[in-house]
Amino acid sequence: MTVCIIGAGYVGLTTGAILANFGHKVCCVDINKEKIDSLNQGMIPIYEPGLEEIVDKTLNNGCLSFSTNIKKAIIDNEIIFIAVGTPSNHDGSPNLSYIHQVTETIAESINEYKTIIVKSTVPPGTSEDIHQFLLKQNVDPLLFDVVSNPEFLKEGTAIYDTLHPDKIVLGIKQPKPVQTLQTLYKNIQAPYIITSLTGAEMIKYASNAFLATKISFINEIARICDAYDVEVEDVALGIGTDPRIGPYFLKAGIGYGGSCLPKDLRGLHYAAKKKEVPTSLLTSVQKINDEQIDIVLQKTRSYIGDLKNKHVAVWGITFKPNTDDVRESPSLKIIKQLQKEGAIIRAYDPMAAIDIEDVITPDDKYTAVKGADAVIIATEWDEFKHADWSKVKKIMNGNVIIDGRNCIDRRTVKPLGFYYLGVGRS
Ligand code: NAD
Ligand code: UGA
Repeated sequence: MTVCIIGAGYVGLTTGAILANFGHKVCCVDINKEKIDSLNQGMIPIYEPGLEEIVDKTLNNGCLSFSTNIKKAIIDNEIIFIAVGTPSNHDGSPNLSYIHQVTETIAESINEYKTIIVKSTVPPGTSEDIHQFLLKQNVDPLLFDVVSNPEFLKEGTAIYDTLHPDKIVLGIKQPKPVQTLQTLYKNIQAPYIITSLTGAEMIKYASNAFLATKISFINEIARICDAYDVEVEDVALGIGTDPRIGPYFLKAGIGYGGSCLPKDLRGLHYAAKKKEVPTSLLTSVQKINDEQIDIVLQKTRSYIGDLKNKHVAVWGITFKPNTDDVRESPSLKIIKQLQKEGAIIRAYDPMAAIDIEDVITPDDKYTAVKGADAVIIATEWDEFKHADWSKVKKIMNGNVIIDGRNCIDRRTVKPLGFYYLGVGRS
């Protein structure tokens, strides 16, 4: 099959590379010329484990190509994926301007029948609006079908998640495109959930909202555990064995970040508000997540006192390990708050480029802790879990570890004379 993917980001690039690896002819297009130029030279602008190898292979065997000529790619290919970003506006509503740009280009370019697949995460009603917009632009209804096919991959495991999804959700207006999608995805074994266009969009929003809810739930439980000197991990294990609850997304910490959970929660909240539906649960989930940053700050103050002129090392900038993505990372929020209170920050991350005013950014984790009164672990990168803590102890000025991800072996650090504070774990 011939496929055009509009938007060569985490989702577009991963989807494109995998479909090309299945043997489809895929052209990934983007308005960002610099990105396309580097992709054409075999350089991947993002860090996603395993992606580079597949891009290399499929670029070399001619199944994958990159271009900035979006109109030509729409004309040349039978299947059109929309995988552009849908970030938040200032008021929390989703910014659909990239989706609108793409839809206009499709309306101008459509020449023969196309299956238009909305892969970007969009608020309920968007795919239907795309369908109606194309009709208004006098595009013949026989020339297209719009399908909502939301993406559930996680950064850091994007390749695995795309190859082994727990389901494929298709929102359709009529049955015709289902077979096209099943042929396109024939190498993927997963149950299909077929619903309306808006139903598929709601499944995606509800899925991210539920994941965020689990995280805020365990973070609230962790606060109570701290008060009663109970280990939150025991509680997570104890409740997670119940299949009705499940073991996943019950890791307490500094809260959820990234380009999706926070923005999609705001998007769902906004969509509900538009229809005057009250959302007290979603509001609480967001509030608990914001408060996790204050909790880390309180824990730090409780050991080193007033933060003014204190030296704090922050290990980890990305919103989670195995990615270079720092969008809405809790680590950045912690750094900003520490700076506000007058702390002097040295930050280190194995993958992300750090460009924050007045933050010293050494090339390795040990230089980052030089003279530090406390070290805050904000991302659970493996290299932090396996750090040489005797060495850290000698380099630091103080002896406080704030483990914002509950990832350090306490039995190693406590005997060395460190004060250890986790989240619902001490
Ligand atoms: P991204 O920011 O990494 O990539 C988006 C790309 O779209 C950028 O390269 C941008 O230049 C391009 N673009 C914007 N306007 C364009 C236009 N008019 N024509 C062509 N290209 C254009 O975004 P992402 O993380 O891949 O997310 C894309 C969508 O998928 C979002 O809606 C997101 O919520 C959703 N999603 C993301 C993930 C994830 O893990 N990142 C997972 C599931 C769903
Ligand atoms: C999330 C969803 O997990 C994906 O299914 C979805 O496709 C994607 O959003 C999206 O729509 O973009 P992602 O943002 O890559 O994926 O990362 P997650 O693994 O979900 O982690 C999100 C945040 O929650 C991270 O900051 C992580 O540290 C935090 N988290 C996760 C916890 O604090 N505790 C947990 O138990 C799990």
